[in-house]
Amino acid sequence: MSLTGKVVLITGASRGIGAQAARAFAAAGAKVALVARGSDAIAELAGEIGASAVAIPCDISRYWEMEQAVANCVIAHGGLDIVVNNAGVIEPIAHLADADPDAWGTVIDINLKGVFHGMRAALPGMLSQGYGTVLTIGSGAAHGPVEAWSHYCASKAGAFMLTKMAHKEYGDKGIRAISLSPGTVATQMQKEIKASGVNPISQLDWSDHIPPEWVAQTLVWMCGAEADAYLGDEISLRDPDVRAKVGLA
Ligand SMILES: NC(=O)c1ccc[n+]([C@@H]2O[C@H](COP(=O)([O-])OP(=O)(O)OC[C@H]3O[C@@H](n4cnc5c(N)ncnc54)[C@H](OP(=O)(O)O)[C@@H]3O)[C@@H](O)[C@H]2O)c1
Repeated sequence: MSLTGKVVLITGASRGIGAQAARAFAAAGAKVALVARGSDAIAELAGEIGASAVAIPCDISRYWEMEQAVANCVIAHGGLDIVVNNAGVIEPIAHLADADPDAWGTVIDINLKGVFHGMRAALPGMLSQGYGTVLTIGSGAAHGPVEAWSHYCASKAGAFMLTKMAHKEYGDKGIRAISLSPGTVATQMQKEIKASGVNPISQLDWSDHIPPEWVAQTLVWMCGAEADAYLGDEISLRDPDVRAKVGLA
């Protein structure tokens, strides 16, 4: 698919799924804005991608930083067509009765409020231009409890509702909002899950995880008309039909 001239802002672009998504969108011809706290990592990736990439250091849990990141993207690339709400954290993994309340809240600030911040900052410009795509990385954890992941499950359930909300309020105004549940992916997050040793996900073999390149390819595909069947809903990358449509093995 060609995304030539399109501008894509990707949160959590310093590694893992977000970094691969940046490479995939740039390869499809898009101009990319790389957002994360790790300024060295996004600067390095922007250097690798070249002139079509800009690195924008930002903590998505702070609305004023997200708002400025969107403004800087528009200044650098001349607009904003697609937002990928990808940034997220899993630590600290803890049972409900042991969880540190402040640390639990920080995960909500990133995984749930960060998605709201991305939508809140991008939607006014998208609505005034009459179009825009808002993709959010969801999780199977949104749909069922996973031991010691109360923060993560609650945040992903809320983030999925934000996709439904964006579609409900703006689906008829040119806004395409879709969530993507990737299954388990071979990234730093899975290393942290394995190290916790707590639940069945931590017992998986590394070979059970899909590569982040598959998720990146799916995100690019989600910008095309074939994915319109999923507007306001979630795509599961565990679904063989979806894999076939995307062209994955
Ligand atoms: N890996 C899996 O199996 C899996 C499965 C389902 C869903 N997901 C979801 O996929 C997304 C990406 O995860 P990943 O697997 O690629 O994990 P990862 O390798 O740990 O990457 C997480 C990314 O989020 C960024 N981030 C974290 N907090 C941030 C903040 N406050 N502000 C800005 N950026 C922040 C990190 O960058 P900095 O630390 O530099 O800020 C990093 O780039 C997450 O939403 C995750 O929940 C992953």
